[in-house]
Amino acid sequence: MEKIKSYIEQNRERFLDELFELLRIPSISAQSAHKEDMRRCAEWLAAALVKSGADHAEVMPTDGNPVVFAEKIVDPAAKTVLVYGHYDVMPVDPVDEWRTEPFEPVVADGRIWCRGADDDKGQLYMHAKAFEAMCATDSLPCNVKFMLEGEEEIGSESLYKFCEDNREMLRADVILVSDTSMIGMDKPSITCGLRGITYMQVEVTGPDKDLHSGIYGGAVANPANVLARMVASLVDDKGHVTIPGFYDDVRILSDEERRDLNEAPFSADDYKRSIGICDIAGEEGYTTIERTGIRPSLDVNGIWGGYIDEGTKTIIPSRASAKISMRLVPNQDFNKIAELFEKHFRAIAPAGVRVDVKFLHGGAPYVSPTDIPAYRAAERAVTESFGRKPLPFYSGGSIPIISGFERILGIKSILLGFGLSKDAIHSPNESYGLDQFFRGIETLPLFYKYFAEM
Ligand code: BES
Ligand code: MN
Ligand code: MN
Repeated sequence: MEKIKSYIEQNRERFLDELFELLRIPSISAQSAHKEDMRRCAEWLAAALVKSGADHAEVMPTDGNPVVFAEKIVDPAAKTVLVYGHYDVMPVDPVDEWRTEPFEPVVADGRIWCRGADDDKGQLYMHAKAFEAMCATDSLPCNVKFMLEGEEEIGSESLYKFCEDNREMLRADVILVSDTSMIGMDKPSITCGLRGITYMQVEVTGPDKDLHSGIYGGAVANPANVLARMVASLVDDKGHVTIPGFYDDVRILSDEERRDLNEAPFSADDYKRSIGICDIAGEEGYTTIERTGIRPSLDVNGIWGGYIDEGTKTIIPSRASAKISMRLVPNQDFNKIAELFEKHFRAIAPAGVRVDVKFLHGGAPYVSPTDIPAYRAAERAVTESFGRKPLPFYSGGSIPIISGFERILGIKSILLGFGLSKDAIHSPNESYGLDQFFRGIETLPLFYKYFAEM
């Protein structure tokens, strides 16, 4: 391990230079204008993995963005770790709120500021460099495969089929993922739960064109007013989602399980301060940890319609729309939730408007067992490198393909992420601490070591 550590120490600056090259590619999967950047990013990663020590690396086409696959087989009889990550990033709007250029990495206050610095380029690149350090010091104890996709932020649609088509190539003993957060650098944790998601888009249409709001105001259903009412009614005063059947399959935890969950450190004051809110909110009867960890939720991600440019314009808009996501927990089924949503949303529409409901994407929740060898290897690695035993932690975020891996490939995932909430992923001014990046690179070889020994 000393050899690995000093290798990392000696190559610090180069690791960062490489990461910065990766970060400069604006690989935004949600926007078709970036199609070419997706391919360029995949090519860059394949080349980087070969330079890091892979036997070979491929940019494999899918119906969507390509998947980067690479591997190094040290011994066919040895264990195999499949590293998963995603090279696509979220859009950068509102771009005015960035203090630096979104795709020009800058180091300040010991942190890298850039879209993708944490989610997930910074985190996946820790794997590439941990792998390089093990190869270069002759201390790689397992076979390693990399599978890096470009559609995680839009639902991983192509990756399900990719897994079905490449079962043999993807054979492994465990999937290792760094795409989640820890509670704190002094409070390490390993994610053992991810929420699922159902993402819908709705449109309410009234008159066949925008109308003068004086001539027609009060006499015609206004789609923007109607949409606002419909959307507001989806969550009640107690923070419950009102869609009939929504909670039917929600797994109820025992009092003991809930007590354990709430052992995780949490400060409401720090939480409020960190995101600039004056009060926390959510479902009655549950703590903040429970609200994101074990309870489902419903959020409007965007809502639009009518006139929003400079000045005023007196109209009744012809239509109004919203993007609505629901975070799901075991044992909710994302398809069933989509159906319940659509049925309910149509049912609550008043006379005088038409409603259009579209399913955009969905994914299942995941719970990772904490009593398997791979989890214990991760726990040992973190304990050694952070000087403190990590807590298992239920995250509110989603990585839908993780449950797909279990279903299609029959392989469990270990969610060993090094993010922190202050990294502000998906927000303007995303960042990743240099300490997180390098601690991650040091921790990963320990995982390989302990996993190989088990
Ligand atoms: N890396 C995140 C998920 C995450 C972040 C999990 C922090 C736990 C802690 C991932 O890139 C992500 O943002 N996923 C999307 C999935 C969706 C678009 C299907 C999400 O959760 O919104
Ligand atoms: Mn991610
Ligand atoms: Mn993300």
